[in-house]
Amino acid sequence: MARKIVVTSGKGGAGKTTLCANLGLALARLSQRVLLMDMDIGLNNLDVVMRVEDKVVFDFIDVVENRCRPSQALIQDENEPTLYIMPSCHLAKRQITADAVKKVLNRLSEGFDYILLDCPAGIDIGFRRAVNCADEAIVVVTPHLSGVRDADKTITELQQHFIGVSVVVNRVRGDLIAEGEMLSPFEVFSILGHTALGVIPENDDVNCNLNLHLSRQPFDILANNLVTGSQDMYDCVSRYKGFFGRIKRRFKRNV
Ligand SMILES: Nc1ncnc2c1ncn2[C@@H]1O[C@H](COP(=O)(O)OP(=O)(O)OP(=O)(O)O)[C@@H](O)[C@H]1O
Ligand SMILES: [Mg+2]
Repeated sequence: MARKIVVTSGKGGAGKTTLCANLGLALARLSQRVLLMDMDIGLNNLDVVMRVEDKVVFDFIDVVENRCRPSQALIQDENEPTLYIMPSCHLAKRQITADAVKKVLNRLSEGFDYILLDCPAGIDIGFRRAVNCADEAIVVVTPHLSGVRDADKTITELQQHFIGVSVVVNRVRGDLIAEGEMLSPFEVFSILGHTALGVIPENDDVNCNLNLHLSRQPFDILANNLVTGSQDMYDCVSRYKGFFGRIKRRFKRNV
């Protein structure tokens, strides 16, 4: 049976889809069988991030409404043969219930070790539908006070669903932490409580588009934590400490 994990944040744009895509790839590199499920009906973009939008024939709504079998809607990743994507659609004529989604997930569950559910922003109906189908949640948070506050609200909601919560801090800038201008991931973990699962740095190439596949190492550490229960954290700060670190910080500021 697969571990069903909803990736959520409350706040929009915190990096849920980016995390789903890159964590899925990292888990597959560990030979785990992974399904990425886009639960964002309407503003879905997991297919774009995973570069499979041209391969979509059936989507998740077709499966729920019995126009195809679940396996017909799955798209295999080009590079990782144990990674599959279940795309969502731009509009659903009828309201999709959590029970209907659960049925589909239960049918798929035997074939996977992990099902990652990419949750829509907010804590309304789309969030509840995704959360109701999961046994665990990863809350993605950026290290800013507004993001932390939204993540805290989301965690309060998740607790009402009695599912385990772990936290990933995304878009961490080691240079700003070294200057004392950004909350460190450890401060964020201690404010939010719950299991610290990972730290993802801000990618230097922020101009890259949605096809962002970030550096592998932070996601490899994160995937390993998820699989083994360890709590190793990617170190974003040490390269910005000391004499050369000060030069790197100054250089980064002037970019
Ligand atoms: N670690 C990172 N470094 C740089 N850019 C990032 C990082 N994580 C996410 N982004 C960028 O932030 C933007 C929002 O990311 P993403 O779409 O994953 O967020 P989301 O939480 O899924 O958004 P939504 O709430 O709209 O679904 C994207 O342009 C993405 O490339
Ligand atoms: Mg998203």
